[in-house]
Amino acid sequence: AKITYIEHDGTKHEIEVADGLTVMEGAIRNMVPGIDADCGGACACATCHVYVDEAWLGKTGDKTGVEESMLDFATDVQDNSRLSCQIKVSPELDGLIVRMPEYQG
Ligand code: FES
Repeated sequence: AKITYIEHDGTKHEIEVADGLTVMEGAIRNMVPGIDADCGGACACATCHVYVDEAWLGKTGDKTGVEESMLDFATDVQDNSRLSCQIKVSPELDGLIVRMPEYQG
């Protein structure tokens, strides 16, 4: 699926991410800056925080309880905040847009 990652300064990265990977892995493997993912996707660090474009909120699913509590450690959390390691890429997410916060942690 094609995922568009937008850095805090507006720089866009359109990346083809294989289904089954997470939105976080798609960024890390393609060296998209703005996502740190210190814990490697274990939902234990909150440094893979992204904002899901409003139009996509219905498709990216709900936050898990663990994700919700980890997000407490992220900065500038908004209603559309997610941990990108908890969003699995699938054909339905083709075209997904996520924005990175100013900084992680
Ligand atoms: Fe650590 Fe997502 S990579 S919570």
